[in-house]
Amino acid sequence: MQSTTSQAPLSAATAVLLPSQPVPKDAVSVIGPDFDTPLNLQQFIDSYERIGFQANSLGKAIDIVNKMRKWRLSDESVLEDESEEYTLPEVRANTKCTVFLGYTSNLISSGLREIILYLVKHKHISAIVTTAGGIEEDFIKCLGDTYLADFNLDGADLRRKGMNRIGNLIVPNDNYCKFEDWVTPILDKLLEEQQMLGTVWTPSSVVRRLGKEINDERSVYYWAYKNDIPVFCPALTDGSLGDMIYFHSFRSPGLIIDIVRDIRSLNDLSLKAKKAGMIILGGGVCKHQIANAMLIRNGADFSVYINTGQEFDGSDSGARPEEAVSWGKIRAGAESVKVFADATLVFPLLVAATFARQAQKT
Ligand SMILES: NC(=O)c1ccc[n+]([C@@H]2O[C@H](COP(=O)([O-])OP(=O)(O)OC[C@H]3O[C@@H](n4cnc5c(N)ncnc54)[C@H](O)[C@@H]3O)[C@@H](O)[C@H]2O)c1
Repeated sequence: MQSTTSQAPLSAATAVLLPSQPVPKDAVSVIGPDFDTPLNLQQFIDSYERIGFQANSLGKAIDIVNKMRKWRLSDESVLEDESEEYTLPEVRANTKCTVFLGYTSNLISSGLREIILYLVKHKHISAIVTTAGGIEEDFIKCLGDTYLADFNLDGADLRRKGMNRIGNLIVPNDNYCKFEDWVTPILDKLLEEQQMLGTVWTPSSVVRRLGKEINDERSVYYWAYKNDIPVFCPALTDGSLGDMIYFHSFRSPGLIIDIVRDIRSLNDLSLKAKKAGMIILGGGVCKHQIANAMLIRNGADFSVYINTGQEFDGSDSGARPEEAVSWGKIRAGAESVKVFADATLVFPLLVAATFARQAQKT
């Protein structure tokens, strides 16, 4: 017979060994990739979906983006109040989800620029929202290289050397001088056309014009111009481009850039979309301006956020999709995910498993 001291207390045993309720039939078990079995890129990326934590969120993001891409109006029944045009089977079969892509400036400085270029070149997205650096750094890269460096470089030393640091990247100051030489004559032309022809410039029409003028296939905005993809940049002046516009305003005052027409165009695009998806890399203006446009249509249908922001400070940058649902910026019940990660790690995988996957197959 066991002594009472050698027996575990019944209350502790009951607490620790509490029997489980039956696991739901559709529960998915956690499992990582098996490197003993050769994996191609797609199989490797597919394995993320069952790893857990943020890998899991990436798997969900891939699934949502693929749904955005596959959706056609013909998948849904015709609404009673549908306009005649959209009752035609051919029109319905060709009506796709309008995809809004947003990204912060630093991502154009990074190698994500080439991935964004791929999406724009192949018309995988419908509209872009970014910040001023996200515009100018694309053109600047056509005029001079950005270099890999180190987060820990000495700021004062870099300043003496005329080198500017963006994270662990370096842009020589000469690149901005080349940018000034390139953009100033274009600003002259914009002003002349405004004065002579009555052209009303907006941030998006300025970006379109710059994309035309650069005439370089390495530029995201060259392809946006070629493919007629609007690029919205509500705060176009918050960067080197703003410095150039400032200096230009002394020499040749009078250039006006109208943000009202652009908010009309962006919101109209959202309103008219039969289905709308957002893919937003980072936070700040690019995130909120797209989400705000979604409010006009009573919410996005598909949403993928990739950002490092946290919500405890109440920032919009850090807000999860659930907060946008409360504002009507994401439709209640719509598919959404936030991947908490540096976009430079995650976005190449996301595109490889979605937009680029199709290209690899064909
Ligand atoms: N290279 C540059 O970053 C640069 C250059 C010129 C001008 N500017 C200006 O600075 C202002 C602020 O820049 P912004 O609004 O583009 O963004 P930001 O750099 O202020 O970033 C906003 C938020 O996005 C998230 N984020 C940023 N980088 C990320 C990444 N790699 N992965 C995941 N999440 C990320 C973070 O939560 C961050 O707080 C803008 O007006 C812009 O024009 C920036």
